[in-house]
Amino acid sequence: MKLTTFKAQDVQDKKVLVRVDFNVPFKNGKVKDDARIRAHSTTIDKLLNAGAKVALVSHFGRPDGKVVPEMSLGQILGDVEKAYGRTIHFVDDCIGEKVEAALSALPKGELILLENSRFYAEEQKNDQAFAAKMAKPFDLFVMDAFSASHRADVTTNGLMSFLTSYAGDVLIKEGEMLGAVSEAPVKPYVLILGGAKVSDKIAVVGNLLDKASTILIGGGMAYTFLKAQGYPIGKSLCEDNRLDFVRETLAQAKAKGVNILLPVDSVVAEGLDAEATSTVDSEALPADKMGLDIGPKTAKIFAEALVGAKSILWNGPMGVFENALFAAGSIAVGEAVVKATAAGATSVIGGGDTASAVRQFGIDAKVSWVSTGGGASLEYCEGKKLPGMAPLEVR
Ligand code: 3PG
Ligand code: MG
Repeated sequence: MKLTTFKAQDVQDKKVLVRVDFNVPFKNGKVKDDARIRAHSTTIDKLLNAGAKVALVSHFGRPDGKVVPEMSLGQILGDVEKAYGRTIHFVDDCIGEKVEAALSALPKGELILLENSRFYAEEQKNDQAFAAKMAKPFDLFVMDAFSASHRADVTTNGLMSFLTSYAGDVLIKEGEMLGAVSEAPVKPYVLILGGAKVSDKIAVVGNLLDKASTILIGGGMAYTFLKAQGYPIGKSLCEDNRLDFVRETLAQAKAKGVNILLPVDSVVAEGLDAEATSTVDSEALPADKMGLDIGPKTAKIFAEALVGAKSILWNGPMGVFENALFAAGSIAVGEAVVKATAAGATSVIGGGDTASAVRQFGIDAKVSWVSTGGGASLEYCEGKKLPGMAPLEVR
């Protein structure tokens, strides 16, 4: 998806409100991972270098329209200053006179950080009067918070009705990369699906089944597929209410010539915290065990299916990778994605868990793109119009 972008002359000397996603993991007063903060630095540098006056607005947690001091963005001010190497002025509100005063007093090259927009209930109601109030001190709006773009809030959508609006670099890159692997992917196109539940992936399958050359299915969701095919699955995760959907999907794939590959073997154990594991073929999964990772034969078949791929979208890990006993399948698939990328494929990792997995395995820099969004990247791949993105589309 191609989005409206700004040029230096559009923003010079303008007061610009930028929607960032500073909803970072935070514990005991500390930011656990500042990747989301750093992601916005290109957009912010471009604006400041062009001479714009910039204020940043974000949500932080889910305070439900009340002022919750534990969810104040003032707590991460130091991390933001460090990430951007700039002086940042914190304003303990996101609307009104304090914002106007801070903008007039703002020295060149410095930034303003506004307080958590979700301290107001109007934010998530996409209240138009509130949007008008927030827009008032500004000339322009830049949306850069891809990971919040599936929310129809004032700061992700409503503001666009009151200010000339542009997409920032994060939003543009996400539109380009997720678009490349979900809108008109170059073939062969391999879709890798995993994670716990079939339910989470129904809409993605619905949108991408037609486009995919091959679909690899691992993770907990694979066992509902295996059960539908008559395999024993023991105590593995299974959504019995999705068996019809799964049968229908398999039939459609067959009719369309899409190759769906399921695990031929699994790493099994008595439970998630078991220490003893074994590897069994799909025909022989014991009644008292659960599948917690794809097995080595499957990993090899999946890796071979990725050779020669030109587009790859990976959403959902192959097993419970957080536990080293059940990580080998996801590691093997990750390595195969890296190889295919080096050979010319466009590879995109979507979804929060899969992004954590590739970072844990240290391969995040060897794939084409790791999406910054969890829910947002899933909804994008479902073909939904995201409220924070669709209004900025160039047709
Ligand atoms: C996220 O962390 O997933 C985004 O920032 C959106 O947050 P939300 O799920 O609270 O809307
Ligand atoms: Mg979320």
